[in-house]
Amino acid sequence: MSDLEGKIALVTGGSRGIGRSICLKLAARGASVIVNYLRSEEAAKETVAEIKASGGDARALQADVSAAEQVTPLFKEVSKVYGTLDILVNNAGMTRDNVIMMMKPADFDLVLATNLRSCWLCSKAAARIMMRKRTGSIINITSVVGIAGNGGQSNYAASKAGIIGLSKSLAKELAARGVRVNAVAPGFVETDMTAGLAEDIKERAIEAIPLGRLGTAQEIANAVAFLASPEAAYITGQTLVVDGGMVM
Ligand SMILES: NC(=O)c1ccc[n+]([C@@H]2O[C@H](COP(=O)([O-])OP(=O)(O)OC[C@H]3O[C@@H](n4cnc5c(N)ncnc54)[C@H](OP(=O)(O)O)[C@@H]3O)[C@@H](O)[C@H]2O)c1
Repeated sequence: MSDLEGKIALVTGGSRGIGRSICLKLAARGASVIVNYLRSEEAAKETVAEIKASGGDARALQADVSAAEQVTPLFKEVSKVYGTLDILVNNAGMTRDNVIMMMKPADFDLVLATNLRSCWLCSKAAARIMMRKRTGSIINITSVVGIAGNGGQSNYAASKAGIIGLSKSLAKELAARGVRVNAVAPGFVETDMTAGLAEDIKERAIEAIPLGRLGTAQEIANAVAFLASPEAAYITGQTLVVDGGMVM
C-alpha cells in the first residue's frame, strides 16, 4: 500500500523499538520519514539505511525533544529540507520506575519532560505548519498504563494519562483547521524498554493478556499507520488500544 506517498512524517525516538518500526512502516507506505533520535546515532542511521535500501526516503535528525531549545531547530530543519510536515508521531519515551516512597522528584520531572512535555512541544511546532496547510495528523504514543495505572510507575502513568488529555484537547482545538490528533496505547511490547524486566513479571503479564502473548513493535506501527492514513480521515481525539485485550 502506498497511500502515504508524498507525505512527510517526523517520528520522535525513531532510532529503536516501536519508533523504529513506525519509521519503517510509514516509509513502506510511501512517506518520507525524519528519524529523530537522542543518543542512538548508529541505530538511527541503520533505520535510515534500511528505508533507503527498500527504495524509500529518510534522514536522521538528532534532538532532545523534551527541550524547547532543541525542538525549535529540529522543526526549522524539517521545514528547510522538506518545506512541510504532514504526520507527526510523538513516540519518544522513557521509564524511571520506583514505588513513590523511593522515587525522587527528579525522576518524576525527567519522565514527565521526556514523555509529555516533548509531545506538547512537538505538537505545537507541528500545528503551526499543519494549521496553515489545513491538513495533518498527529499521533501520540501513550500506554495502557495511562488508562489503568500501574504500581511503581506513578511518574510514567501520569505522563501517559497526560498524553491522552493533551491529545483530546488538541483534537478539539485543531479539528476546525483539518488537523487530526489521536493516541495509540500499546500494552506490553517487546523492546529495549521491557527487555530488562524479570521473566516472572513477563510471565504474569502474559497471563493477564487474553491473546496470550506480548505485542510486537510492528503491531503498534500498523495502528499508527492506519491513524496517519486517509482511511482514518473521520477519526480524531481517540485512543486506540493495542494490547491483546489486556485492558478493556
Ligand atoms: N515497550 C512497551 O511495552 C511500551 C508499552 C506502552 C507504551 N510504550 C511507549 O512506546 C514508546 C516507545 O517505547 P519503546 O519500548 O520503543 O522504547 P525504547 O526501545 O526504550 O526506545 C525509546 C526511544 O525514545 C527515544 N528517546 C528517549 N528520550 C528521548 C528524547 N528526550 N529525545 C528524543 N528521543 C528520545 C530513544 O532515542 P535514543 O535511543 O536515540 O536515545 C529511543 O529511540 C514510548 O513512548 C513508550 O512509553 C512502550
